[in-house]
Amino acid sequence: MNDFSKKLIIISNRLPFVLERVENQWKIIPGSGGLVTALAPVLRNRGGLWIGWPGTTIQSDISKPLEAISAQAGFSMQPVFLNDEEIQQYYMGLSNEVIWPLFHDLQSYCNFNPDYWEMYKKINSRFASAIKDKSSGDDFIWVHDYHLMGVAEELRRLGIDTKIGYFQHIPFPPLDIFIKLPWRAEILRFLLQYDLVGFQTVRDRRNFIQCLKAFVPKIAVKGKGQVLSVRFAERNIRVGSFPISIDYKEFSQQAGSKEVADNAWYIHEDIPNGKIILGIDRLDYTKGIIYRLRSFRTFLERHPELHRRVTLVQVVVPSRRSIPMYNELKVEIERLVSEINGQFTKSGWVPIHYIYRTLTRVELLAYYRTAEIALITPLKDGMNLVAKEYCASNIEQSGVLILSEFAGAAAQLQKGAIMVNPYNIEEVAEAIHKAFHMSLKERNQAMRKLQQIISKTDIYWWVNSYLKAAISSDLETFPRMEEYYTKDSLSSLSIFP
Ligand code: G6P
Repeated sequence: MNDFSKKLIIISNRLPFVLERVENQWKIIPGSGGLVTALAPVLRNRGGLWIGWPGTTIQSDISKPLEAISAQAGFSMQPVFLNDEEIQQYYMGLSNEVIWPLFHDLQSYCNFNPDYWEMYKKINSRFASAIKDKSSGDDFIWVHDYHLMGVAEELRRLGIDTKIGYFQHIPFPPLDIFIKLPWRAEILRFLLQYDLVGFQTVRDRRNFIQCLKAFVPKIAVKGKGQVLSVRFAERNIRVGSFPISIDYKEFSQQAGSKEVADNAWYIHEDIPNGKIILGIDRLDYTKGIIYRLRSFRTFLERHPELHRRVTLVQVVVPSRRSIPMYNELKVEIERLVSEINGQFTKSGWVPIHYIYRTLTRVELLAYYRTAEIALITPLKDGMNLVAKEYCASNIEQSGVLILSEFAGAAAQLQKGAIMVNPYNIEEVAEAIHKAFHMSLKERNQAMRKLQQIISKTDIYWWVNSYLKAAISSDLETFPRMEEYYTKDSLSSLSIFP
């Protein structure tokens, strides 16, 4: 039965879109990354609340676009504002120049600036105050991702003693890497203030437990299976692994639409002679784009017989451009793409089609549907939902997934994918060759297996397993508000990736 006083409150650094002021008008840009893709369908018709930063420093005049987006999305949005210095130190600094690289095992990319840490705590307190203002005792407060690990501690200080959940979308590093963090004990203490701490994989959870055992005196860990129990300071904290997913049904239905089929046909029409290999990533050094391009070059060097018969479409979605390392990466990708194209292009065939922008939903689905091979080779990734989206949209069940061992998705998808070490350029080059020559029967079998796994453990399975572990309840406990949202066309989803 629906209890209309109960709300699901999602808190993440960003709201699921970015507002940009262009010539006195608000431009709404869909958010990118796995967190938004996964959570938007969960909240959509539950009339819940999403608290986060709207991506702008301008505060005036924002209520109208927010109302419009809320009406379309089917849930309310509460902005938390940040000024330039706060963005610099909390978001770009501690979140993306410390936690992000360290938790992806890239400690040499870190900038351990103590000012960042002070700002991180300050902004986490600001988020906690916004939650306190907007929640009542019946709501479930669910905090997402590494920008906000300290929110529960602050909420406890403000007197909130209801259940609070945390889910980490990125990996949790092994002890010998985590130990480098100057604020390692504080971060662990922060996380122990939640009631349920969720990770993407069993490996991340194991790393977290090892760090707890190393740094927190008198900690006791009990249980086995998906959710363990940690006893600390007279509290029980549950720690589980919950591999995040996608709205499988929606992806496969939309990919099956005529609009997408027509677009897919046009894409292949323009690349008539061969197979398309697809790479789609946010601009990020963790995604392994440079290694992937080098692997593709090795493949072209080794297999001249396949020139003209294979085209790599590499889509890079702009992200975090104000952080210098991301800008440098863009320059390096573009240099390498033009070097490879310069070396191998022949009349009527350009080996790499490089796209640097956010695709529309229809374009994205059309590429997923039509690409014969998906090349997903992050150096490390919390989950990687592109891998799951590709499979869900592969209506003809003839595509091949080449997947990095270091993506969270590897744990679930290794049986149907060709698995590779993304650092091993020769192995990735040979995986492309193998994928090219797989028979239709082999491809069908593997893709069917992948689709079965992903459809069984879709985003609703994920949210329900998390809520069951957190509050012994599922999504149905939160009010369903059908009048908010009707799934009548692809364009009604256009604000989300
Ligand atoms: C990853 C993170 C998300 C983040 C997204 C986009 O998926 O796990 O928390 O929102 O990247 O990055 P951005 O810095 O633009 O929010």
